[in-house]
Amino acid sequence: MAFKGNVVLITGAGSGMGQLAAWRLAAGGAKVAALDINEKGLAQTAEGKPGIKAYVVDVTDAEAVNRVVAQAEQDLGPFDRVINAAAIMPFGKLLEQPTEQIRRLMDINYGGLVNVSKATLPGMLKRGKGDFVSFSSMLGQMPTLFTGAYAATKFAVSCYTEVLYHENRDQGVRFVCVCPPAVKTPLLQQAVDTVWPKILDANPPIKPEEVLDALEVSLEKGEFWCLPGKGTRIGYIMRRLLPNAVWKEVHKAEGC
Ligand SMILES: NC(=O)c1ccc[n+]([C@@H]2O[C@H](COP(=O)([O-])OP(=O)(O)OC[C@H]3O[C@@H](n4cnc5c(N)ncnc54)[C@H](O)[C@@H]3O)[C@@H](O)[C@H]2O)c1
Repeated sequence: MAFKGNVVLITGAGSGMGQLAAWRLAAGGAKVAALDINEKGLAQTAEGKPGIKAYVVDVTDAEAVNRVVAQAEQDLGPFDRVINAAAIMPFGKLLEQPTEQIRRLMDINYGGLVNVSKATLPGMLKRGKGDFVSFSSMLGQMPTLFTGAYAATKFAVSCYTEVLYHENRDQGVRFVCVCPPAVKTPLLQQAVDTVWPKILDANPPIKPEEVLDALEVSLEKGEFWCLPGKGTRIGYIMRRLLPNAVWKEVHKAEGC
């Protein structure tokens, strides 16, 4: 593992990849501040793990995020790594998806990252060390039908993190933007419960372990874009070079 520090803050730590990252890092000896809106999930994350301290917070609430970050820093010490994994993923045809839901998606998936970066990154930059990790998605590189509202949040996450990196590079903090394809976590159920784009059946969901392993490799190699999973890098390149060919495949898969 590329992690050499002591204290980690993780949002979305009550489920899926955030939870797994908390368990792995705590098992390696780190002190983990686990943040999530889901109290039950957080309790499961921290149960029997003295290295993990749970903080219930809604990442869309900037003041609450500032409060919790200050508290966690007081409890555990300054952060050596921050992982932004909190998100929701309802899908839908854009004109049919409730406007409130589209706004909420942006508030959580993008606004949460903004709030957490403002609360944590200045301290890391001042200390001249640390890892700042954002979870975007392949959908934050390559949109498909019925994923527009979620994909827009992940394009925002990718762009924000990329610019954040370039504005603060060479100051000792490592930045990584993780863009996984579908991953086997509870998040997928939100898509199943709304609309499941057929193109996502082209490849089975990968394991969360594979994504976290790829993240460590990216950190170690100093690669900003982390593209886990078979074919992800090719998809990333195809979208840039041949966007119309990608859309053709998407329409073919959906039969429209
Ligand atoms: N699972 C996938 O297929 C997939 C693919 C690509 C990218 N991602 C991204 O990876 C990250 C982790 O996803 P996951 O699959 O582990 O999801 P998950 O649903 O298992 O976990 C997400 C966590 O975020 C929390 N959360 C939601 N809203 C919140 C809020 N307002 N404040 C605080 N916490 C909140 C949830 O309670 C949940 O515990 C997300 O950013 C997701 O968009 C996931």
